Amino acid sequence: MNTLSVLVVDDEPVQCKTLAEILQDQSYDVSTSGTVEGALDLLRKRTFDVVITDFRMPSGSGLDLAKKVRELCPESVTLIMTAYADVESVIEAMRIGVLDYFLKPLNIDLILHKLALIREQHDLQKELAFLRAELHRKFDDDSSLIGDSVAMIEARKLIEQVATTKGTVLITGESGTGKEVAARQIHKLSAQQKKKFVGINCGAIPENLLESELFGHKKGSFTSATDDKDGLFVVANGGTLFLDEIGEMPRSLQVKLLRVLQEREVLPVGGSSPIKVDVRIIAATNRNLLESIQSGGFRSDLFYRINVVEVKMPALREHVEDLPGLAKHFIAKFARDLKKPICTLSNEAIRKLMAYSWPGNVRELENVIERAMILHRIDPARPASAASIEVCDLPSGFQNLPVASVENSDLYNLDQALRGFSRGHIAKVLEAAGHEKKEAARMLGMSLSSLYRKMEELEIMTKKEDLEI
Ligand SMILES: Nc1ncnc2c1ncn2[C@@H]1O[C@H](COP(=O)(O)OP(=O)(O)OP(=O)(O)O)[C@@H](O)[C@H]1O
Ligand SMILES: [Mg+2]
Repeated sequence: MNTLSVLVVDDEPVQCKTLAEILQDQSYDVSTSGTVEGALDLLRKRTFDVVITDFRMPSGSGLDLAKKVRELCPESVTLIMTAYADVESVIEAMRIGVLDYFLKPLNIDLILHKLALIREQHDLQKELAFLRAELHRKFDDDSSLIGDSVAMIEARKLIEQVATTKGTVLITGESGTGKEVAARQIHKLSAQQKKKFVGINCGAIPENLLESELFGHKKGSFTSATDDKDGLFVVANGGTLFLDEIGEMPRSLQVKLLRVLQEREVLPVGGSSPIKVDVRIIAATNRNLLESIQSGGFRSDLFYRINVVEVKMPALREHVEDLPGLAKHFIAKFARDLKKPICTLSNEAIRKLMAYSWPGNVRELENVIERAMILHRIDPARPASAASIEVCDLPSGFQNLPVASVENSDLYNLDQALRGFSRGHIAKVLEAAGHEKKEAARMLGMSLSSLYRKMEELEIMTKKEDLEI
């Protein structure tokens, strides 16, 4: 449960102080003001969940203050206390959004009951927002990894295997290769799928904030720590914590993280008693952590702790045969988002896209398709089914991109094409046969020894390389 922040406004100092003390005793975070102007000064500096104001004060009316609260902090709730309730003022108060009215002398129990209801509603709203975001992600196609190339089949197979364990996973790969999608997939397939998946980008947050984000803090442990705060290890308890860009984590925090992984308990900043946590850790990096160890940026002991199983996401140029399928997936996605009809890619556009090296990987492809879908105009003279994205819809760099000549391109080389097809086909049959090679050989219509030979020749990962986790 979160603490509610409450501002009490009353010109009568004793009443103001008494109410504030009672609320503080009930663990509300309370501030006070004896004047409307003082209250407004506070509201300009920070927000309050609830404002409880007297109705008539020498410095102004509670109703005017309520109107200002609505302008300054639309999320805040206003409650009014008064010794003189008349029907008109009650109606006026309700009209401007005052939630409730309390007669003086105050019945404290009624106020506490109201605040408890508001607190409950706050917690429910937060939970709802979290669940909505999760639901949105779950039903979003982005959460599945597209691609039938050997590289993607192998990555997916490893993901399925590690999902059944609670071991720490390190996902590596260049930027935009789908490391986060892979992490979500592991969580989705795991026994903890109903618990939270919480992610944090260790490279995007300053060191001192990262520490309190991860481990939590106690009220007063630093200047802006106005409340106790749970860290993400506690928030994700029972579920998965995704530590993105772990290579960017400052060394001082690496020691603390290592301790949490070893002891399975966290100590909040400024706290004295550790909290037990049971969290599956998935870390991701696009840095070469072994190089970072050499240069002193990353601790080797932490590396060995997190690198229990490594899932390597391939660069797009290493599985460019998945590009047409990925492009189709993104066209459908953006057609939905932009409320446009689904279109195709012209052959020439596919040739240009496949000739590019994609340093930004799948994310870059996604951006190129989004741009093309925004700029793409359907020619009213052509039927909608004939609409396709042409080279002119791609960024200018693609217009002049030399498409490899037919003779020189691996893409058009028959042996290369057959090799690619055979790798993909054998990998698919192996998957369908549950990696029983005898069964796969039968399905392929070849002897077991020929299958082994082919697998070696085509560099297909064999079951013996599967990890014991
Ligand atoms: N195989 C895939 N199938 C479908 N979508 C993918 C695939 N790979 C990546 N994506 C999409 O590409 C985008 C980038 O993926 P993601 O954020 O997981 O990459 P990343 O490796 O975490 O990148 P970074 O290192 O920059 O954080 C996302 O929108 C994701 O949905
Ligand atoms: Mg990422």
